[in-house]
Amino acid sequence: MESHQRAAETHIIALPFPAQGHINPMLQFSKLLTSKGLKVTLVTIIDNELTKAKHGSVIVDSISDNSEENGTISTMEEYWKNFSSLIERKLSEIVEKQGKSGRPISCLVYDSIMPWALDIARRLGLAAASFFTQSCAVSAIYYHVYEGRLNIPSEQTHVSLDGMPPLQSYDLPSPACGSEYSPALISLMTSQFSNIREVDWILVNTFNKLEAEVMNWMASQCPVKLIGPLIPSRYTSKRLEDDNDYGLSLFKSNNNSLKQWLDSKEACSVVYVAFGSIASLEEKQMEELACGLEKSNYHFLWVVRESEQKKLPDTFVNETSEKGLIVTWCPQTEVLAHNSVGSFMTHCGWNSTLEALSLGVPMVAMPQWADQVTNAKYIADVWTVGVRVKVNEEGIVTKEETEMCIREVMEGENANEFRRNSEKWKTLAQEAVSEGGSSDKNVEKFAAELKCI
Ligand code: UDX
Repeated sequence: MESHQRAAETHIIALPFPAQGHINPMLQFSKLLTSKGLKVTLVTIIDNELTKAKHGSVIVDSISDNSEENGTISTMEEYWKNFSSLIERKLSEIVEKQGKSGRPISCLVYDSIMPWALDIARRLGLAAASFFTQSCAVSAIYYHVYEGRLNIPSEQTHVSLDGMPPLQSYDLPSPACGSEYSPALISLMTSQFSNIREVDWILVNTFNKLEAEVMNWMASQCPVKLIGPLIPSRYTSKRLEDDNDYGLSLFKSNNNSLKQWLDSKEACSVVYVAFGSIASLEEKQMEELACGLEKSNYHFLWVVRESEQKKLPDTFVNETSEKGLIVTWCPQTEVLAHNSVGSFMTHCGWNSTLEALSLGVPMVAMPQWADQVTNAKYIADVWTVGVRVKVNEEGIVTKEETEMCIREVMEGENANEFRRNSEKWKTLAQEAVSEGGSSDKNVEKFAAELKCI
């Protein structure tokens, strides 16, 4: 009884970076912590309306973005400065208010790409955990760059790093988005390690068996705890109440008949195509992709966010047909779990990658930038759950290449192997998050340690 009372008093703040790929795993982790008896307030910049939806027992609090009042923010530096002061103000308010009402906050779990949040935590007298939303392999690569052992882009064509397969320079996280080279991106990513020795916990959204070797190497450098895959518990054996979807979607779907459409298709007959919440394809690339999908002659479900719709070829606009369906957004985990979906053409964002692995769906990897490139290498050559597209001299994946890769994964000579491996990773992912599994134990331990602060 006494330990139950103490558990109910432990209250922490979860602070994701306000982008879909960062909010989803942090919210999911927060739900797990509440299931272990903690109270969690998740704080982020989102539309106030979204905070009213139900997110299990997680309290969602939003920060109002004052960037308009402050005029235009022109540099990355200004953005972070404005953002961190907004956050510090909000967190101080919450800490003070909760302290007065007898529910004091004891810890801040923050997204690792905001390492300055550790200073805020310390100023507020809180313990702190850095939460990594990228793979262990990618984290290890950024760590090598931070320590000065590796450059990105690399002058070496072959790179050999502890716990990883031999990498080509094009397997390393890309500092270029489209044709734009951005040293700021690499410096943002490596800054995740700037104060890693001072933080109380390091949490990574992955699981031991998926990245065993590189995890061992990382653990020899810093005490990482692997706590993933963080997907809605509806798809795991540890089902939490009210947990059918992530729950905080920043995008809206324009289609209510998606489920019927999927239901009307045969098992493993649909190619699901989506590029996450940020990636933006060039118009020419959209055209090639559209033709490739058509030529492959499979049913396809393609997510084209509202902001990208204008790039669709005319023939594809508003297409809702027997063959292909284009939507502005969808409940991705539900789609991947549907038995009509036979493969996932993905930009290899870490959440999308983990979701496909956890739900046993083979992939056509079409990475765009940053960590996606390394994830694509692992999809094709380490986990062997699909193929990676090749780009031509103009940096485009042609319609012929698109068609060929889709065929290879859906029906090619390695299709059965991809399917078998996908099933294997699905089982191992489920094991990791089941009662007593490696990630479950790590979450349990983290919760127990928090209760002792
Ligand atoms: C980015 C990076 O790409 C990723 O690697 C990083 O680790 C987190 O930030 P994003 O590009 O948006 O994220 O991709 P991804 O990590 O795959 O996250 C997208 C999320 O949106 C996934 O959880 C996916 O399920 C969800 N989604 C996507 C939907 O719910 N519906 C959609 O239609 C598309």
